[in-house]
Amino acid sequence: MHSEPLGPTTLDLFADADQQPARTEQLGPQAFVLRGFALPWVPRLLAALEQTLKAAPFRNMLTPGGFTMSVGLSNCGALGWTTDRSGYRYTALDPVSGLPWPPMPQVFRELAQCAASEAGFADFAPDACLINRYLPGAKMSLHQDRNEGSYEPPIVSISLGLPAMFLFGGMQRSDKSQRVPLLHGDVVVWGGVDRLRYHGVLPLKEGLHPQLGAQRINFTLRTAG
Ligand code: SIN
Ligand code: FE2
Repeated sequence: MHSEPLGPTTLDLFADADQQPARTEQLGPQAFVLRGFALPWVPRLLAALEQTLKAAPFRNMLTPGGFTMSVGLSNCGALGWTTDRSGYRYTALDPVSGLPWPPMPQVFRELAQCAASEAGFADFAPDACLINRYLPGAKMSLHQDRNEGSYEPPIVSISLGLPAMFLFGGMQRSDKSQRVPLLHGDVVVWGGVDRLRYHGVLPLKEGLHPQLGAQRINFTLRTAG
């Protein structure tokens, strides 16, 4: 008897050296890391990313306090998160081009919905995808995601490329943070009682990822409107 050939899903799960079989880690009552969950979607994610960036390239935005963010930002979807001297907010138009943000590629929506459902949040319908690019040294200070119209839907955060140390804190900035290494293909989902947890990313270490080179890409999907 010959054995069954490996199905495409199984092959996809182990296609990279840094890949691991999907497994779930719990960060809070309603917060989870889905290890390797995005791996089967990576080729489609990268193709969609390339298209999106043609219309809305990464830019280093100004914080309301006048600092230039070290992370390069772009967006896709009906709403995009932006910041400048007048504050943080969601806009329908890209302030650089004056055009609507590029539409959200189906693959982002699908993956985010699957990941949310895996974490116990049914029918997640994101209308905003923030795209963060970390070059070595770039970091994201502890913050809460609180510019959205409702805190009912969860947040889905997809990591690609170089590993990063994600900080997952409490409801107060001063609460102790868990340190969570995020690798290529990991997805973090937090919502419900954990929706307003402080979080951030330590400065990215130098490195070279086989597929993405010297960078980390993070997609953060939310229902903003
Ligand atoms: C964010 O909170 O916007 C980004 C989180 C991350 O890069 O993992
Ligand atoms: Fe955030």
